[in-house]
Amino acid sequence: SDPGLVARARAAKAALGDRVFVLGHHYQRDEVIEFADVTGDSFKLARDAAARPDAQYIVFCGVHFMAESADILTTEAQAVVLPDLAAGCSMADMAVLSQVEACWDRLVELGVAEDVVPVTYMNSSADIKGFVGRHGGVVCTSSNARRALEWAFSRGRKVLFLPDQHLGRNTAVLELGFGLDDCVLYDPHKPEGGLTAGQLTDAKMILWRGHCSVHGRFTKDSVDQIRDLVPGVNVLVHPECRHDVVTSADLVGSTEYIIQTIESAPAGSAWAVATELNLVRRLANAHPDKRIMFLDRTVCYCSTMNRIDLPHLVWALEELVEGRVPNRITVDPDTARYARLALDQMLALP
Ligand code: 13P
Ligand code: SF4
Repeated sequence: SDPGLVARARAAKAALGDRVFVLGHHYQRDEVIEFADVTGDSFKLARDAAARPDAQYIVFCGVHFMAESADILTTEAQAVVLPDLAAGCSMADMAVLSQVEACWDRLVELGVAEDVVPVTYMNSSADIKGFVGRHGGVVCTSSNARRALEWAFSRGRKVLFLPDQHLGRNTAVLELGFGLDDCVLYDPHKPEGGLTAGQLTDAKMILWRGHCSVHGRFTKDSVDQIRDLVPGVNVLVHPECRHDVVTSADLVGSTEYIIQTIESAPAGSAWAVATELNLVRRLANAHPDKRIMFLDRTVCYCSTMNRIDLPHLVWALEELVEGRVPNRITVDPDTARYARLALDQMLALP
């Protein structure tokens, strides 16, 4: 990266000292990760932010919903900064509060809402987490989705899972032993979700029709091709991948699980990994003794994660040095209160 920008980032961080805490999601560019005080998945970063009440500024190198969660879990006095406001998440955008309320109204109309526990993936807006908290539900991440679903099914007979259909289906079928036909897909763009009253009433898992635009692009064909090309390869995929990709893989798990698996893999082993490209590249560079490849070369970076680059980070840090707070992310207190209930419920999972 540009040596001038590297020097400016170093100088700004030095000038801010302990007043700033820079968080870097695993899917961020190398040039940004270089300046992160901690790296992690969205769950770990939210906890790391909460553990630093002394830091006046939290610079979140990740996407919007993560910065919102950090704002919810930090104190009033702390400011959470997202270096580029255009760093959203297409999956989170697939569940809008008014659509989720319409779905809930339908469940109320059918007389089944009291049997339903809403569960939302961390990758959702604060509004959606607030909705879930208001209705006695829980947030989950890809590393605790099983425990979140078990908790939800201990409290109700049905789950409304938002917004990632794949994480919901993969967890219900592969970890809880549900059948594919226990799950129905609620499409917010169709009247009544595209489901009959009977389908909605009978389903155990109501999956929201959302997906990740990166993980959703890996296919079973690419798994078959890599196995032909690289005999003995281990296929390691994130649970945001489609169900047939996950069932044809060798191992499935969250971003943190993928990292741990590669770190503990024996030298000489071969791995085809289906998750964000910045992370796969970094793992390959860090483990030259192992053969680490991207499952499908036609899949690209998460474009919104990649919006945070060194120029944006330098700009945000230099603004803070000047005493201005750029791109502050705040969640209104009422939404934050209920979203926090759903987040705390996740933190309390056994
Ligand atoms: P985690 O950070 O929870 O692994 O989620 C994956 C992801 O897609 C983040 O955007
Ligand atoms: Fe959203 Fe997928 Fe990008 Fe994660 S990788 S921020 S889920 S679009």
